[in-house]
Amino acid sequence: MAEIPPPPDILSPEFAADPYAAYRVLREHYPVYFHEGTASWLLSRYDDVERAFREPVFTTDNYDWQLEPVHGGRTIVQMSGHEHAVKRALVAPAFRGRELRERFLPVIERNARELIDAFRDRSRADLVDAFATRFPVNVIVDMLGLDRADHDRFHTWYDAVVGYLANIGQDPAVAEAGLRAGAELRAYLLPIIHRRRAHPGDDLLSSLCTAEVDGTRMSDQDITSFVSLLLSAGGETTDKALSGMFRNLLLHPDQLAAVRTNRSLVAAAFAESLRFTPPLQMIMRQPARDVVVDGVTLPAGSTVTCLIGSANRDPGHFAHPDRFDVFRDDLSADTAFSAAADHLAFALGRHFCVGALLAKAEVEVGANQLLDAFSELDFADGAPPHEAGVFVRGLRELPLRITPS
Ligand code: HEM
Repeated sequence: MAEIPPPPDILSPEFAADPYAAYRVLREHYPVYFHEGTASWLLSRYDDVERAFREPVFTTDNYDWQLEPVHGGRTIVQMSGHEHAVKRALVAPAFRGRELRERFLPVIERNARELIDAFRDRSRADLVDAFATRFPVNVIVDMLGLDRADHDRFHTWYDAVVGYLANIGQDPAVAEAGLRAGAELRAYLLPIIHRRRAHPGDDLLSSLCTAEVDGTRMSDQDITSFVSLLLSAGGETTDKALSGMFRNLLLHPDQLAAVRTNRSLVAAAFAESLRFTPPLQMIMRQPARDVVVDGVTLPAGSTVTCLIGSANRDPGHFAHPDRFDVFRDDLSADTAFSAAADHLAFALGRHFCVGALLAKAEVEVGANQLLDAFSELDFADGAPPHEAGVFVRGLRELPLRITPS
């Protein structure tokens, strides 16, 4: 009889080097497993993770301690029921449909172009530093109608806030820097919010100041916390998703060539990349009462870690899940950016990523402009860089050899 491997430790260096091998062991042998290091229950199968996202008994109260300190207040991802529905309805219109197409698409296009202009004539560039990590943050700053001269300042706050959220080792200096950045961001925003309330303009910050649903408006604190949330929820994820997609495509040159020739495949490549290497590898939930999953009782108030990276590679849901394939027929690019998505990279249910269509627009514009600007792209050092990170995972650098078109 084959020996059953021991349960993997998701905080070990082996896991950080290759989580996907460990996910397989968890799915096959320990689908509901209490992990001492994170003091949480790990769910690794697609159906269980999906259930945790869909059923309201799995609350997001865990974000009270995970997110609230750095964002300086409650954000929609912590909320539930009516409060969540109203606050989400206040912010959602800006991230979809006409608002997105007519108001913000030009902002996205301009920011992609400006960043690419800075390395258009070079023969080498780090796609992360020169593009992916700056692009979504610059877009958010411009959508909010803030001073474009503050792009770098926002990037510094972004670094500190995402550093705080990734601080598994609880380094006090990192925690302190994150909290300080959050406080600085709020101090910067408050006087601007007061001015926009008095004289609203045609920008996202003004919309947040004036929007009203069911007689409810956003308070100053709602707005500052939301903007702070946008830096991590909308910045870091898109940064990792964009560079990850290029890494996956460069590792599969035939698929990159197909996407280059037929640009309607960019959305499929992005969807498949989100399935294959999701930036948010795991997110947590907190059961409101005892709940039984696969015969195991998860106690009320416990922490449940939903392993998105594992669910997206569940062979019960995707054929040949460890194969990157933009042509796969069990993942639809038409639904991949909606709450009917097959993959779980944006979660599902009521907290389904409110910025999914914005992320899609950013990645489509960014990828198209990069492919137009450079007739050839290749790993600068011949080999792909490794992904890093456990909760949020992706590339810290992607040095490329580039040939201008
Ligand atoms: C590829 C890029 C992205 C990925 C992988 C991603 C992933 C996610 C996931 C997994 C959640 C659910 C969190 C939970 O249920 O605990 C979420 C929620 C959210 N995302 Fe995204 N996201 C991305 C881009 C964006 C962008 C561009 C924005 C906006 C600028 C954004 C804003 C939000 C917000 C505000 C929520 C909270 C929604 C709610 O609680 O109702 N995200 N995202």
